Amino acid sequence: MIIAVDGPVAAGKGTLARRIAKKYSLKYLDTGALYRAVGLKLLKSGQDPTDPVAAVAAARQVGDISPDDPALRDEKTGEAASIVAANEGVRAKLLQYQRDFAKRAGGAVLDGRDIGTVVCPDADVKLFVTASAEVRARRRFDELTGKGTATTYEAVLEDLRLRDARDSSRGAAPLKKALDAHLLDTSKLDIEAALDAACRIIDAAHKGP
Ligand code: DC
Repeated sequence: MIIAVDGPVAAGKGTLARRIAKKYSLKYLDTGALYRAVGLKLLKSGQDPTDPVAAVAAARQVGDISPDDPALRDEKTGEAASIVAANEGVRAKLLQYQRDFAKRAGGAVLDGRDIGTVVCPDADVKLFVTASAEVRARRRFDELTGKGTATTYEAVLEDLRLRDARDSSRGAAPLKKALDAHLLDTSKLDIEAALDAACRIIDAAHKGP
């Protein structure tokens, strides 16, 4: 079984996708981490994420960045990831890895922006996880201040709106709900309620009509 989980920044899709993978004993891939690794590779070598040639070269060396590097989760890295993610050459470099992962025996859960539309258009279940911009900004603000990052709610909301606009308006595999994806709005749901809702959708799809 392949499950695609897409949605905008801070919608809760990563936590949800991890919990789904655990519950159904599936492998899990955070595809955003691949774009973050490309962004971080550029930042670490003092290169500009908007430079298309450098970005594609960094995508070839994405394995140089450890998945445990804490800098992957920094806001600066997220910003760089969003910029390199608009580069078609970068997307093409990362596509095959994601598809191969999805085909692994036993099935997989992948979360990102274009899993249901581009990476796994034949996924067995597609979830589009979202929440209002205000709720997402509040969650991200709490997460950042919890880690000791000095910021304001307003700055986080503005950054999130910019990221949403960039991810949704780019020409290459923009963030959008696949026609056959199930919409899951987590604005008023905690993780347990979101997981229950997702499992109902997955179980119904798995049993078939
Ligand atoms: O989910 P995230 O914040 O870790 O993703 C970082 C950036 O990577 C995000 O701004 C958009 C991009 N991304 C993408 O374009 N396609 C994906 N499948 C996953 C992430």
